[in-house]
Amino acid sequence: MMSDEREAIDTSETAPAGFEPVIVAFCCQYCAYAAADLAGSMRLQYSPNVRVVRLLCTGKTDPIFFLKAFEGGADGVFVAGCMEGNCHFVEGNLRAKQRVQHAKGLLDEVGIGGGRLEMYNMSAGEGAKFAAAADEMTERIRSLGPSPLRPEPGDAEAALQAALDGVEVAQA
Ligand code: FES
Repeated sequence: MMSDEREAIDTSETAPAGFEPVIVAFCCQYCAYAAADLAGSMRLQYSPNVRVVRLLCTGKTDPIFFLKAFEGGADGVFVAGCMEGNCHFVEGNLRAKQRVQHAKGLLDEVGIGGGRLEMYNMSAGEGAKFAAAADEMTERIRSLGPSPLRPEPGDAEAALQAALDGVEVAQA
């Protein structure tokens, strides 16, 4: 059923045939990053289109991160933080939620589209929830089509790496 759904979306008017979205996920190391790791350990199937960027806390996110990701070739971006009330830095995830909402408005204004940005909350033990978020965003962006800022095909990976350089927290 899933392959039928994807095939139907690929032939939509907005997405060119064969379009594979690039999704950047800014993940808190205490929850979503661990959930992504767990999903891998559990061998859960989820979209391979998602590039995970580890953050100390989603409170560290800045709208400039989102813009750098889009400039670098991302077609969609999501932020994944701890459940509300469980942030290790008290209100970091609430600040992230506000920034995402603000940035969605800015993306609408500049023609990129606020729908290309989303926020999720999950605990470290919710590998399946991370997998569902990755799949949901991939399908949403697949239906929206490529970002208007997307570089020429072939340049996306290198540009994305350059744009995200210095954003990810250092590995301990
Ligand atoms: Fe996870 Fe703040 S520590 S969102």
